[in-house]
Amino acid sequence: MKPETQNHLSLTKLFMQNRIITLDEFIIRRQQEHNFATGELTGLLRDIGVAAKIVNREVNKAGLLNILGAVGNENLHGDTVQKLDIYANEKFIECLRNSGECAGIASEENEEFIPLPPLHDKASKYVVVMDPLDGSSNIDVNVSVGTIFGIYRRVSDPSGPVKQEDFLQKGTDLVAAGYVLYGTSTILVYSTGNGVNGFTLDPTIGEFCLSHQNIQIPKRSNYYSLNQGYYLKFDIEMRRYIDHCSDSNMQLRYIGSMVSDIHRILFQGGIFLYPNTRKYPKGKLRLLYECNPIGFVVEQAGGKAITCQLERVLELEPNGLHQRVTVAMGSPEMVDEMKAFVEKYSA
Ligand code: AHG
Ligand code: MN
Ligand code: MN
Repeated sequence: MKPETQNHLSLTKLFMQNRIITLDEFIIRRQQEHNFATGELTGLLRDIGVAAKIVNREVNKAGLLNILGAVGNENLHGDTVQKLDIYANEKFIECLRNSGECAGIASEENEEFIPLPPLHDKASKYVVVMDPLDGSSNIDVNVSVGTIFGIYRRVSDPSGPVKQEDFLQKGTDLVAAGYVLYGTSTILVYSTGNGVNGFTLDPTIGEFCLSHQNIQIPKRSNYYSLNQGYYLKFDIEMRRYIDHCSDSNMQLRYIGSMVSDIHRILFQGGIFLYPNTRKYPKGKLRLLYECNPIGFVVEQAGGKAITCQLERVLELEPNGLHQRVTVAMGSPEMVDEMKAFVEKYSA
């Protein structure tokens, strides 16, 4: 039997026996499945887990430390920056800088990518894209927020510093992607292109433990998720689709944190949409930091991720670090249905 199959079987067996499998153990076992694995990706995923625990600690005690509230300035995109956005951004950068497993980071909170010097003369072959705190307008009112990350193998010469081309890769080139949801419990969900698994943080032992193995998104459900307040700002074909959702008595669920809305859809099914509006003619969400990593996870769970112009998100050729795109993702049959509406009414 191939080592890959053995590992899968033993992980499933242990999971079925209710044996605790920590994120670290899981990552190491999975690493053995890849012949080319050097341990670097393993290290990088572990570092992201560590940064997530640190950010989680601050999210949980945010009110106590008077860390809540806007700093008073705006980020690159004109959104109000919250203190915790900055904290999360700094913590993730610090953890990845100290680990030596990452050659550079592109973050929603930084205009330019950040090259990280090699530690001990060992150049890393990976770069990270991230939205350090997603849903930040929800922080002040104790509603769930998240972190989104994606990992690419760098394409520039590893003996020199990283270049923009290392980050401007298509979603199909992602080596791994995932998110952390700081919710009623904290959960880290990720994929290395071989299914999707979820790890819930057990605060008593300070470890992410395997809680959701091989997550499969339901083919359809009764939920749709978008900011319906912008209805009149949507294109006519999108309005017809929304009319259809509400005519068919579908239930609207919208938290306003993409990570939270997607997390619900991964487990209960549904479709998440952020179409173009007059304010955001190309959509609001960022291709590199939000739509590609989340689209990767959704596809790995059996879902679909397209733009409202009906291209597959992961196949888009990025043209800028902070590029925005429209998005429709979630249960495969629901994304297909939305596509059919747009095709019909834009014809
Ligand atoms: P961020 O906090 O990283 O800027 O992301 C907020 C995003 C996303 O999480 C959410 O789906 C969307 O903005 C909500 O936008 P609206 O308030 O326009 O609905
Ligand atoms: Mn975001
Ligand atoms: Mn953000």
